[in-house]
Amino acid sequence: MRGSARFEATSFSVFRTAVATNAPHDFRVDVFDGISDLPLFSPDKESDTPDSVLPLAAAVAACDGILIACPEYAHGIPGAFKNALDWLVSRFEIPGKPVMLVHASTRSAYLRAHLHEVLRTISCQLYPEPEFEVHLIRKDRREIDAVLSTEEMRAAMRTKLEAFGRFAAQEG
Ligand SMILES: Cc1cc2nc3c(=O)[nH]c(=O)nc-3n(C[C@H](O)[C@H](O)[C@H](O)COP(=O)(O)O)c2cc1C
Repeated sequence: MRGSARFEATSFSVFRTAVATNAPHDFRVDVFDGISDLPLFSPDKESDTPDSVLPLAAAVAACDGILIACPEYAHGIPGAFKNALDWLVSRFEIPGKPVMLVHASTRSAYLRAHLHEVLRTISCQLYPEPEFEVHLIRKDRREIDAVLSTEEMRAAMRTKLEAFGRFAAQEG
């Protein structure tokens, strides 16, 4: 992960790190930590893409598949994350890319439907449901670590990533 800013870890950021840490040995999972560095999308800026967008585009180009762990805000996609997707809409890196949603909340039905629609619209290959989910919201850091560190949970993360790896190898 880039950057060294201190912040209070949320359930989603702890979850992302846990999924990356528990990936099978032949997987490499990088957490992209630059969403908040992106400028506001405008089609007028696309012909001369801002430098700050290039790490996102490069990360998407370089990977075999994308895991998305995204909270639901007001029954939708958080603005900062939709902004990141908007920067990719007209570019070459995202179409055809295998994508799996992984959920740190079991409640986010609106988010899931919105994300499915957006990701299909930008021609991603969506891993079919059921996606990986665990309920971590409203837990403190100690409770989250306890849920994520059991052998059953770590095996479940590995199993789902292996299934996604097989899907990505077929679809990507
Ligand atoms: C502004 C805002 C709006 C939210 N709206 C929803 C929502 O509509 N539905 C939902 O399930 N959770 C909603 N949440 C909760 C988040 O999706 C997420 O689960 C929560 O922020 C995780 O917090 P934690 O990491 O502190 O546990 C909202 C959170 C915020 C900050």
